[in-house]
Amino acid sequence: MSIALIITDRDLTTLSSGLQKRLPNVNIQCWPNITEPEKVTFIVAWQPPKQLDEKSIWQQFPHLKAISSLGAGCDSLLGDTSLPSNITITRIVDRGLAEQMAEYVLAIILSLKRRLYDYFKQQQKQQWQPLRKIKGKKVAVLGIGEIGHKVATTLIACGYEVSGWSRSQKQHDLYATFYGKQQLAQAVKDVDFVVSTLPLTLETHYLLNNEFFKLLNNKTWLINVGRGEVLNENDLLLALANNDLQGAVLDVFSTEPLVKGHPFWQHKNIIITPHISAITDQTTVIEQLANNYQLLTDNKPLKNVVDRQKGY
Ligand code: GLV
Repeated sequence: MSIALIITDRDLTTLSSGLQKRLPNVNIQCWPNITEPEKVTFIVAWQPPKQLDEKSIWQQFPHLKAISSLGAGCDSLLGDTSLPSNITITRIVDRGLAEQMAEYVLAIILSLKRRLYDYFKQQQKQQWQPLRKIKGKKVAVLGIGEIGHKVATTLIACGYEVSGWSRSQKQHDLYATFYGKQQLAQAVKDVDFVVSTLPLTLETHYLLNNEFFKLLNNKTWLINVGRGEVLNENDLLLALANNDLQGAVLDVFSTEPLVKGHPFWQHKNIIITPHISAITDQTTVIEQLANNYQLLTDNKPLKNVVDRQKGY
């Protein structure tokens, strides 16, 4: 039996040697050098290539039983219609990812409040000009699963007033929660920052659209760290032109890498980072991947299985 790693955007030495050490009798193969595809039962993937000589990439693995996303998100697997429905999909659930995300959001909010982006622009022009800091302390966190909840509680610990919004009803003691489309307006009412940690599902696709931006005030900053396609990019440009919100900090995009010439690059009220708010730590995830592989081999239920209906 064997595990295949289908991840092309990073060096996999840590993950493959760590898995090999943890599972010494299992053959760990890295795409595209898969010599024994018929032995593969478990795949770890991140944005796998869809087509291989007109065939689905999955067809070459006749004994495949489960695929784990290397990240918290699994939309690229769920959106792949060529992936047979009997294959179990799992994802990474890791406190480290939630901590990184919370750190990123806090860093962004503090940088905006203390006008660090503006001072950096001024420095480039050798300009000495004190600016007023942004006072706002109200934050709405959209998506309050393990990642959004960590973002919310980190902000609360730093003195922010947080509201949380989710698709279905969730209760948390530390902050007010809202759910469903009908309560979205209440969740974002008068907030200074909206943070989206939402996964991409049929229900969240383009949730951040023209109609949504009308619920904000012209001082609100949007921070999107969930998935690019939760945001309608054209609607954001229109909303900024209409002064419906103040600006946006975007870490995720409909198409990544963001294409050269995209209007976001030069927009004075948009700040861009290249999908780095939370990056899976290969060392940390070895144990949960190896554990799921062993559960699969023992015919036991896997951990962190994705609900294909819900989309996460
Ligand atoms: C990153 O985007 C992830 O899904 O972990």
